[in-house]
Amino acid sequence: MRTPLIAGNWKMNLDHLQAIALVQKLAWTLQDSGHDPKAVEVAVFPPFTDLRSVQTLIAAERFELALGAQDLSPYESGAYTGDVSGAFLKALAAAYVIVGHSERRAMHGETDEIVNAKALAALKHDLVPVVCVGETAEDLERHGSSAVPVAQVRTALLGVPDDADVVVAYEPVWAIGSGRAATPDTAQEVCAALRAAIAEDHGQAFADRTRLLYGGSVKSGNIASFMHRPDVDGALVGGASLDPGEFAAIARFPKHVSID
Ligand code: 13P
Repeated sequence: MRTPLIAGNWKMNLDHLQAIALVQKLAWTLQDSGHDPKAVEVAVFPPFTDLRSVQTLIAAERFELALGAQDLSPYESGAYTGDVSGAFLKALAAAYVIVGHSERRAMHGETDEIVNAKALAALKHDLVPVVCVGETAEDLERHGSSAVPVAQVRTALLGVPDDADVVVAYEPVWAIGSGRAATPDTAQEVCAALRAAIAEDHGQAFADRTRLLYGGSVKSGNIASFMHRPDVDGALVGGASLDPGEFAAIARFPKHVSID
């Protein structure tokens, strides 16, 4: 069974006070709507400066929400001004960390090799890396939808132990923040290609348990069409995760996949 994961990437939005207000509303809305955390896992990825406040709130109120960070350093500690170690994230009870988001690839020059080093650093600290892959509009025109994400995932997962827990998010760059999501058929096709490549490199069991998310203009109105596809195990949500009612509505679409 792959438990669906609905993940909210807040990007550079909400300070720690706004974060507390959002998480409270989100948790209450989920509770009120009878959300079953065993059926659908919900995770939030606030900015670094919010992590401590959000972690304290989740622990104090026993909210059924997982916590993740948006990035980490490939290094352990030392003279890396502005960077944050996976060790520090683990100390804040983070379960997940996003690596290789297209915004970091585009604006911070993150290569597939850096993304790979970050994924390995995450695993070293017992954090589940949420490895983002996806083609730009130009890649799409030149190579179609699957080739670039498949190449990215192969490099990102080099050297990952076969018993590791990772999540892969397919986020076509042209679909992010555009209001123009990929079609569910495309999401399925690319996720199936990603799973096949992962199986080839890391074995079928690894591929079968790895959750593949779709991201890019996901909303409550289109989530069901993605979740009904066999290789889409959840969503990485940007803009719509900033609205607790909308994000809770997205999490109300459970899907169970039997892998045996
Ligand atoms: P939007 O949901 O705002 O398109 O962003 C998707 C994304 O980049 C999540 O990481």
